[in-house]
Amino acid sequence: MIQKIAFGLLAVLVILQFFQIDKTNPVSNPANDFMNIANPPEEVATILKTACYDCHSNNTRYPWYTNIQPVAWWIKDHIDHGRSELNFSEFGTYSQRRADHKLEESAEYILSEEMPLPSFTWAHAEARLTDEERTFLADWFEEQRTVLFPDTSSTPEPSSGR
Ligand code: HEC
Repeated sequence: MIQKIAFGLLAVLVILQFFQIDKTNPVSNPANDFMNIANPPEEVATILKTACYDCHSNNTRYPWYTNIQPVAWWIKDHIDHGRSELNFSEFGTYSQRRADHKLEESAEYILSEEMPLPSFTWAHAEARLTDEERTFLADWFEEQRTVLFPDTSSTPEPSSGR
């Protein structure tokens, strides 16, 4: 009985392997990449590339375990969802307001340790950020808001009811 169940599960796992994820990175214009717009210092660029770009850009790197189902589906879901919320490769196509808001959120999510996703840093030790790195990165994002969008970020939020 147990042997049959084990064999059944194994068969299912083998069949799942036929459903590989699509690893084609979408093509985008390099001029729209956040790196080319903000020109971050090397230190920031390195962190963004190792800790954010796998889910928030079109330059995703796919480690070996993305060949294994169902793990790969779960990872692909993070990538698709991450890109749809914020794609640094398409940053230049965002409206000023949206782009400014994404910078604000980036600072917030980094400080609150929601980003990079904890499940990502389990497998990517190099993407684990120290408290100093978080503060440094968040400050840098906030600074970019005033550098790139002086008009948008200096406008106070419209207060409700008016
Ligand atoms: C493993 C994939 C992954 C990594 C790595 C990752 N993110 Fe995310 N990110 C997501 C997903 C999925 C969402 C959407 C769900 C959510 O908000 O939790 C998201 C949401 C966000 C949002 C919210 C966007 C919005 O408008 O709601 C911001 C900002 C963000 N990420 C910034 C970052 C930054 C900055 C880094 C690097 C320090 C990073 N993320 C690393 C997957 C990732």
